[in-house]
Amino acid sequence: MNRRYLVIIILSGGLLWSLSAGAVDLRSLRGDRPLDAGSKRPARADVILPENGEFKKSYRTHPPMIPHKVDKTRISLKKNQCLKCHGDLEHEEINAPMVSKTHFVNRKGERLGHVSTRYYFCTQCHAPQVDKTPLVQNVFDAGR
Ligand code: HEC
Ligand code: HEC
Repeated sequence: MNRRYLVIIILSGGLLWSLSAGAVDLRSLRGDRPLDAGSKRPARADVILPENGEFKKSYRTHPPMIPHKVDKTRISLKKNQCLKCHGDLEHEEINAPMVSKTHFVNRKGERLGHVSTRYYFCTQCHAPQVDKTPLVQNVFDAGR
């Protein structure tokens, strides 16, 4: 057989194999809604509060989950209402836990006099909890 044909056969075999491997399980969190249909607004769910004041952590450095409502708390470029209660100057008066000391360190490892921009958008890491069936099963294992 001509070598060029052999190369084409091998390459197209590889292409078919990779296509079939790629088609394993492409489920989307959007369900079967077409991509151009816009996403559906999730149903409202009431925030649940922890029984003993805080939610159990899954591993040591887990960001604590928020044990109170935050639906009216705004974080924008100009103001961060979380810091009105959790800031280093404000927290004592409110009797709220202060943001972690780690939140004052920038990416160069320097300690700043204010919360670092890396930690400004609190809800990137801290989230309130709702009692809902998870959309996808969580198989995370903290290895303990
Ligand atoms: C009106 C004051 C207030 C505001 C605003 C507020 N918190 Fe809190 N937060 C508290 C208090 C007080 C606690 C202590 C637990 C409790 O009483 O619910 C707390 C607890 C927490 C905890 C748990 C800390 C731990 O060690 O377990 C986290 C995380 C948290 N808040 C994050 C946030 C984030 C993020 C925002 C903004 C989206 C926010 N909070 C806005 C008052 C506030
Ligand atoms: C990049 C992720 C991240 C962001 C963003 C973030 N945090 Fe945290 N936070 C953590 C982690 C992880 C911990 C626990 C470990 C530690 O102390 O660093 C924590 C701890 C805390 C605690 C508990 C402190 C204690 O002493 O127990 C509070 C309160 C808190 N954060 C509030 C906030 C607030 C308010 C903001 C926004 C200004 C914020 N965090 C932004 C990851 C984050």
